[in-house]
Amino acid sequence: MVAAARFLLLAAVAAACICCSSARELKQPVQGDLWAVLIAGSAGYGNYRHQADICHAYQILRHGGVKEDHIITMMYDDIADHPSNPHPGKLFNRPKGPDVYTGVKIDYSHEDVNAENFLAVLAGNASAVNAGRRSSRRVLETGPNDKVFVYYSDHGAPGIVGMPSGPFLYADQLHAVIATRARERAFGEMVVYIEACESGSMFEGLLEEDLRIYATTAANAHESSWGTYCPGMNPSPPPEFGTCLGDLYSVAWMENAEHADLTLETLKKQFQLVKQRVSQNFTYSQGSHVLRFGALPIGEEPAAEFMGYGNTGDGTVPLAQPLLGNDGEDAGAAGEGAPWVQLGAVAQREADLLPLWHAAQTAPEGAARAAAARELEAEVSRRTALDASVTAAVRRLLASPASGALPLLHFKYGGSAQLGPLLAAGLASPSGTPPEALVAAVVGQALPRPAGTALVDDWDCLRAMVGAWEGACGRLDQYGMRHTRAFANLCNTGLRPADLGAAAAEGCTTGSSGAAVLIGPDAHVAEA
Ligand SMILES: *[C@@H]1O[C@H](CO)[C@@H](O)[C@H](O)[C@H]1NC(C)=O
Ligand SMILES: *[C@@H]1O[C@H](CO)[C@@H](O)[C@H](O)[C@H]1NC(C)=O
Repeated sequence: MVAAARFLLLAAVAAACICCSSARELKQPVQGDLWAVLIAGSAGYGNYRHQADICHAYQILRHGGVKEDHIITMMYDDIADHPSNPHPGKLFNRPKGPDVYTGVKIDYSHEDVNAENFLAVLAGNASAVNAGRRSSRRVLETGPNDKVFVYYSDHGAPGIVGMPSGPFLYADQLHAVIATRARERAFGEMVVYIEACESGSMFEGLLEEDLRIYATTAANAHESSWGTYCPGMNPSPPPEFGTCLGDLYSVAWMENAEHADLTLETLKKQFQLVKQRVSQNFTYSQGSHVLRFGALPIGEEPAAEFMGYGNTGDGTVPLAQPLLGNDGEDAGAAGEGAPWVQLGAVAQREADLLPLWHAAQTAPEGAARAAAARELEAEVSRRTALDASVTAAVRRLLASPASGALPLLHFKYGGSAQLGPLLAAGLASPSGTPPEALVAAVVGQALPRPAGTALVDDWDCLRAMVGAWEGACGRLDQYGMRHTRAFANLCNTGLRPADLGAAAAEGCTTGSSGAAVLIGPDAHVAEA
């Protein structure tokens, strides 16, 4: 009761402060409630860190006084009792940190964690998630004064984020739901935090400034986000874990939320501190560019408005490391020889290799170690083969007279200083063979677009490109999803999904191997 009263009192005071520009509004302070949606987009022990992030966020919100029935949690929930978990029934989000799993109430688990349900939760569409069910599942039930905090942690790629079941979540789908709800005044304000590779592409060119939605992303539209507290780092998780415990942007905001007085610290201040930590004190020697989108004035509000007024910086949990800095010294024997873990963070796509790499280092000498090494090698080869398959398909597509791809590209990008000469060389070659540098650009780079525009103009095209690829070559996993970059380039050039499908069908080296199932989004299928 006391905590609740305090929450209301402080909420009223804070709301009054925010409105000081308008004397009339002072008389009617906002009396809304705080809601949250927390979602981890993967399964599998190699993805331990993402579900640990989500559990940690749950604890912070509860500590902040957010009501249990106002937090909707979506996580696959295969880690706590995973055979690889050295501490059954527990999850940790930092070395020497507390168990964050106990007490978390999970609303959607296993295959119910999917894009469709997530969107229905945000849309407040109870009938969509409860059709044909006896027990009812929760969705947002906000009113026009309520605030909503949404936090996603997992793997992303240009224009999408992953889900442990079903199709990817596309940026335009997320935007359509939250923008519609904002226009309907279904909530007062919404804050969205997204940890994922290329997460800036989820909002860039999409999220309006006048919708009372404020978002921050771990990375810009072109780069990886980073895992942290991985084997071999300083600080390192105890050796029995063999996996990363957290993600850099995620632990940066959450450790800030635990140690700062969020009734005084604004969202903008938190953003700046998170940005500083994730960029290694703005050096970008590793880490990513944390970005903000949407209604930036919301950033002037105390973070407690979205994380709970009980978070006053009482520091209930000691930090495992200073908020900034990770000097990389004393990385420990486990880190030696692993090029990607010499510093305090590791790019997401490499972080997935760590459990395999760790097993290959630490398994008992002999047959077990050899098997672990083979598994790691198989996964690395599988990735190489998949990348080569996409490159080969794009090469065939650009060379294909049917699609006339080179002239199309030339029409669209001929004036670009970067691509112009390559395109000219391709058109001049007798066989119409695209130069390899052009193929590489289409596969791996963001072809020039006006600043601030979304990844693609036609999101249905991107979905269809993914569908065409998957139809010919099999499902894209959390590594393969990175190739939405290539598919987006093809859409923006005016190429058709059917052309990609035909080029892909001419030969896929999917590189299928036993190891792949260990870390793909469908890891649970094989491990079950
Ligand atoms: C809720 O979801 C159902 C089933 O997907 C759909 O038919 C219905 O139109 C949705 N309702 C609203 C208000 O969007
Ligand atoms: C961050 O960089 C600034 C400017 O170079 C420096 O003054 C400051 O001490 C650094 N902070 C940390 C924590 O390393």
